Amino acid sequence: MQEVNVGIIGLGNVGSGTLAILTENAEQIGLKLGFPLRVKALCSRSIGVKRRQKVMDSVLRTEDWREVVAHPEVDIVAELVGGTTVAREIIDAAIAHKKSVVTANKELMALCGAEIWDRAIAAGINLAMEASVAGGIPIHTVLREGISGDRVTTLYGILNGTSNYILTEIEKHGSSFDDVLKEAQRLGYAEADPSADVDGYDARSKLAILAALAFGEKITPSDIYTEGIRRILPLDFQYAHKLGHTIRLICGAHQTPSGLILSVRPALIPQATILAGVQGAYNAVWVRGKYGADTFYYGRGAGASPTGVAVVSDLMRVAREIRCGSPERVSPFAHERLGEYKPIPVTLQHSAYYLRFRVVDRPGIIASLAGVLAGKQISLEAVLQLPSDNRQDLPFVITVEPTSEQSLREALGEMSAHDFLVEPPFAMPMEKSL
Ligand SMILES: NC(=O)c1ccc[n+]([C@@H]2O[C@H](COP(=O)([O-])OP(=O)(O)OC[C@H]3O[C@@H](n4cnc5c(N)ncnc54)[C@H](OP(=O)(O)O)[C@@H]3O)[C@@H](O)[C@H]2O)c1
Repeated sequence: MQEVNVGIIGLGNVGSGTLAILTENAEQIGLKLGFPLRVKALCSRSIGVKRRQKVMDSVLRTEDWREVVAHPEVDIVAELVGGTTVAREIIDAAIAHKKSVVTANKELMALCGAEIWDRAIAAGINLAMEASVAGGIPIHTVLREGISGDRVTTLYGILNGTSNYILTEIEKHGSSFDDVLKEAQRLGYAEADPSADVDGYDARSKLAILAALAFGEKITPSDIYTEGIRRILPLDFQYAHKLGHTIRLICGAHQTPSGLILSVRPALIPQATILAGVQGAYNAVWVRGKYGADTFYYGRGAGASPTGVAVVSDLMRVAREIRCGSPERVSPFAHERLGEYKPIPVTLQHSAYYLRFRVVDRPGIIASLAGVLAGKQISLEAVLQLPSDNRQDLPFVITVEPTSEQSLREALGEMSAHDFLVEPPFAMPMEKSL
């Protein structure tokens, strides 16, 4: 059968991983497809100084992405540049040229994926974005195909490998956030500017995409309450362990009778739950369906090869559809709105909470904090204090029974006025067994 041709734009981590797999694994890929999948054009700004991959001389090598998109023999454009400006232009131009697109771009798809999908459908081309969330885990395919017959009620993910690496290193070695971050940067696990990872923005883009796929709703990053991991101290793990829990940056989407609550935030999760076993830079997604109950997906969240596999598999899927005739499709982002999955504020969430205080010790502190909680109808569950000699910065923890986040925030606001606090109280939800 006649070959399908690919143009790759962006030869960084993901682009070079993709190219390596396409060339090294070409024979297997051809056998699986029943026809060859060929690289026809390569583009990157510094293509001249890029190590020359083993590609045939007939492959176009260019610094100008427009040449790839306009190339008459390129059937599928792989956008592996990233960001929301040039990447958007590349995808728009590919759609205008009626070329199918494969992208790994979570940021762009989270911001305007629904709109891009609508245009792709109108143009009769295909769009695939498996690599945009949880690199090596085929979670898009799971949600769009594998369990698409179910009705998802809850989705939890660990979707940022850098944050998970930092948290599990703090947990294992008791080192501070700053020290672990520096080590992660030295090892290349964290960017020089780590904000997107440790402040939760990268995970937020991924959750926006996954929640859209899981619930068939148009969800944007601004619908998601986001909090990073900078305030986590080694002692939070000590207290969490005493409570039979650990701490992870949890991306959560769960359906309530009034709508969808979406958040990316550090949370206590029971040590016995399967998500607690996710260590280092790994990612995981746990999904509960109304009919099929629980399923769990685990793998590498990033890296040239795992993400390259996701891109190549997308290229194969799109190539198959090009050869066999592309079926009419429905955008994964927004079915006709049913209303039941409308995002609602996180302040409507009900949960048990872990509250950690650092105080200048003096009598009556617990009584005054308990008084604030009682004033908001919040029931105190336990008070924990590990031995410490530092009376000027004495940590302790209060756990409270399930309450609304709104009441909790009001209580924290009142507590913050107390002059015995070294810093504002730090709160994390305590998730039930997942
Ligand atoms: N890294 C991962 O593990 C991973 C995992 C999942 C998803 N992703 C997503 O994959 C995408 C790519 O990430 P990456 O880590 O591979 O990025 P990267 O290493 O920074 O690579 C980006 C590439 O795009 C090229 N580029 C940038 N602007 C260009 C332009 N105007 N014209 C032509 N080429 C241009 C760069 O060329 P030069 O090198 O010549 O400057 C470089 O080759 C992003 O959307 C990212 O979010 C990455």
